[in-house]
Amino acid sequence: MYIVGITGASGSVIGIRLIEELLRSGRHVSAIVSDSGWRTLGHELFRNRKNPSSLAEVLDTRNFTFDRGLLSEYSNDDFFAPPASGTARFEAVIVAPLSMKSLSAIAHGYADTLITRAADVALKEGRRCILVPRETPLSLIHLDNMLSARKAGADILPPAPAFYTYPETIGDVVDFTVGKILGLLGVGHELFRPWGDA
Ligand SMILES: Cc1cc2nc3c(=O)[nH]c(=O)nc-3n(C[C@H](O)[C@H](O)[C@H](O)COP(=O)(O)O)c2cc1C
Repeated sequence: MYIVGITGASGSVIGIRLIEELLRSGRHVSAIVSDSGWRTLGHELFRNRKNPSSLAEVLDTRNFTFDRGLLSEYSNDDFFAPPASGTARFEAVIVAPLSMKSLSAIAHGYADTLITRAADVALKEGRRCILVPRETPLSLIHLDNMLSARKAGADILPPAPAFYTYPETIGDVVDFTVGKILGLLGVGHELFRPWGDA
């Protein structure tokens, strides 16, 4: 089981594409979207014409077909949900995209939302915690927080596109980041061709 958090940073489509790829590969996903995450997602994916309240609805709108039994969704204030506890069995927590606000909370162990609590749990349990922080330019505060999170065991994977893969669409750029996340997780994918492959 993989826990995916989507916060209010720009790039909600990265979290959505990650969830799609994990579901496509038959993995169980526990998904959490912050309040700001929902607003940013509605703005970026639906140009504010739609205000989805569930990820299943978002995936349906994108005509993505999936096994509904593989997707669990939790409210970001539900501390009774499985992602809040280290006793729950999960492989990894991925927060994509990660706002500077939630990064700050994770870096300081301020677990006042289910997303930041899940990351806190992953770090204390020594499980994989992949953070996809999105902001530019980065202040010293942001950089300090990334360093603290890294020192605590998180992987810092900014959505930084590669150009040697010759991306042609925004989808290609997004899929590069998603592929890098899947690579860290050891989940096979065909989102980009590995360097050196014919
Ligand atoms: C359209 C939009 C884009 C945003 N992009 C970013 C961003 O890229 N990075 C960031 O740190 N905050 C961004 N924000 C601000 C966050 O949404 C805000 O700090 C919020 O409090 C984050 O809360 P959360 O971490 O609980 O989701 C954006 C806000 C909006 C409305």
